[in-house]
Amino acid sequence: MHLTGTALAVLGLASQVTASPAPPRPVTSRYPGPRYVANATRANAVKEAFQTAWDGYYKYAYGHDSLRPVTNTFSDDSRNGWGASAVDAFSTALVMQDWEVVNQILAFVQTIDFDVAIGDVSLFETTIRYLGGLLSAYDLLTGPLKGKSNDTASVQSILKQAQHLADNLKVAFDTPSGVPDNDLLFGPPRKAGSTTNGIATIGTLVMEWTRLGDLTGNQNYGRLAQKGEEYLLHPKPAFGEPFPGLIGTDVNITNGLFVDSSGGWVGGDDSFYEYLIKMYLYDPIRFGEYKQRWIVAVESSIKHLVSHPTTRPDLTFLAIYNNQTLQFISEHLACFDGGNFILGGLTLNEPRYVEFGLALTASCHDTYEQTATGIGPEIFQWQDNKTPLNASNNPGPPAAQADFYKKAGFWITSGAYVLRPEVIESFYYAYRATGDPKYQEWAWEAFLHINSTCRVGSGYSSINDVNAVGGGGFSDFQESFWFAEVLKYSYLIHAEEEDWQVKADHTNKFVFNTEAHPVRIAAGYERTFF
Ligand SMILES: *[C@@H]1O[C@H](CO)[C@@H](O)[C@H](O)[C@H]1NC(C)=O
Ligand SMILES: *[C@@H]1O[C@H](CO)[C@@H](O)[C@H](O)[C@H]1NC(C)=O
Ligand SMILES: *[C@@H]1O[C@H](CO)[C@@H](O)[C@H](O)[C@H]1NC(C)=O
Ligand SMILES: *[C@@H]1O[C@H](CO)[C@@H](O)[C@H](O)[C@H]1NC(C)=O
Ligand SMILES: *[C@@H]1O[C@H](CO)[C@@H](O)[C@H](O)[C@H]1NC(C)=O
Ligand SMILES: *[C@@H]1O[C@H](CO)[C@@H](O)[C@H](O)[C@H]1NC(C)=O
Repeated sequence: MHLTGTALAVLGLASQVTASPAPPRPVTSRYPGPRYVANATRANAVKEAFQTAWDGYYKYAYGHDSLRPVTNTFSDDSRNGWGASAVDAFSTALVMQDWEVVNQILAFVQTIDFDVAIGDVSLFETTIRYLGGLLSAYDLLTGPLKGKSNDTASVQSILKQAQHLADNLKVAFDTPSGVPDNDLLFGPPRKAGSTTNGIATIGTLVMEWTRLGDLTGNQNYGRLAQKGEEYLLHPKPAFGEPFPGLIGTDVNITNGLFVDSSGGWVGGDDSFYEYLIKMYLYDPIRFGEYKQRWIVAVESSIKHLVSHPTTRPDLTFLAIYNNQTLQFISEHLACFDGGNFILGGLTLNEPRYVEFGLALTASCHDTYEQTATGIGPEIFQWQDNKTPLNASNNPGPPAAQADFYKKAGFWITSGAYVLRPEVIESFYYAYRATGDPKYQEWAWEAFLHINSTCRVGSGYSSINDVNAVGGGGFSDFQESFWFAEVLKYSYLIHAEEEDWQVKADHTNKFVFNTEAHPVRIAAGYERTFF
């Protein structure tokens, strides 16, 4: 079911709302906790997929970053050769309580040498995958899964490894402004010398670094990431914030000033917005200002970026912008937005955000429904139904996709699928908010389509064309986030209640980092009433 434009208007979604800071108030949740129904058959089928991918990785790529499942080889090209797939699989093996794999990874983690790296080190990628994966495993193994692994002595060394890694990475923050340089070289660790950094790579460090600070008692870790974030919370000059709360993409690391006015909820910007509300969930006292900025960004998005395709006005997407000029383009990556609006709505007791998030989620579902494989494309475009059709920022589809656009409401500008999670991630939040089994069906169908299209050789591979039957060929690469994210969200939506599940009723004990590693909420805030 799609929310129509009329329904959105009734909900007041299109109207302007000023985001005034609301003082904390004790209220009970408007979402008193829907009834969740687990399905062991489906959860086990996802576990089977996890085991298949893990076995392929273990046999042909163990200790390396990624499996190439078609040729049964490995790649260390992008994640520095520290075993990214093993670390990214860690928290998924834990929530699946697959102890054999957990114990293998636990033993492996002790052997990683974070002092040497293959290739350039990305502060952002290393933080969300490695640091996030290690801290999450530590939080799970010292929290709800305490005493369940066969080697409790090794649990402490997970944190030691995380801290050692962060000590190597922290040179990145040693810039005149404190905005980190995302690009490092190791042996010894040093900056590669970038002049700018983007808001996603600056603004998606704060959860992991703050958590490390809280776990070690050394708040300097958190302060480093929070310092860089300050420039994103207070963007300068004015052109860095073309709409209230919606900011540009690149920041000069010498002086912290924005260098452009373009952005949106897409790759390069996305998880900066995601973490604003997640940090408030993590600790509402320290990160109250982050929540305010999230609200301003979300209200602006609802007011300025909302767009409906000419051929399918029932669909709701968010446009991107360059200054105040919109472009009607979105991405698989951006489909996390529905889930993030839903989580924010639950956290803030604001049904408008939940409803809007459900509309975004349903529209991303359509990007799956409409293709030959049942999987959504990497990048897509549409024609906005409120902007003149002759405006230069509102072109129609290429002739070859005119028929597709007529029925689908979008056309495909990049048809690859690289085992990304965001659509299933939003289904997960939608289910946890509503308990509506429709979202479990959607997640199950998506999983079945990915399983039947991407499973090849010793694992699962990226494909070239979601709109070709069979996927148009394999690019022979199994991203580590397949383990961390796709398999985790596909599993959790059908799994039993546990402490790490997202809750609708303000009893969350964990918040998921952008790589789907559950991070334990700061002590004292596991139950949040605002
Ligand atoms: C669980 O999922 C399976 C596979 O889709 C389905 O056949 C079965 O009816 C589901 N069970 C329940 C109780 O919904
Ligand atoms: C834990 O289990 C793993 C894999 O099952 C095994 O290799 C390891 O030796 C075990 N460690 C201990 C301390 O028992
Ligand atoms: C960044 O700011 C410095 C100091 O003002 C300036 O010299 C440099 O040209 C700027 N770089 C970019 C990419 O804007
Ligand atoms: C951005 O757009 C506003 C309003 O259209 C305009 O006043 C401003 O000059 C533009 N800024 C830049 C840097 O182009
Ligand atoms: C678009 O069409 C309208 C009405 O036909 C016309 O007034 C306007 O000048 C056109 N704009 C452009 C950018 O061609
Ligand atoms: C996933 O694909 C494998 C290989 O084709 C198949 O054996 C398995 O049954 C599939 N899983 C589901 C749930 O359909």
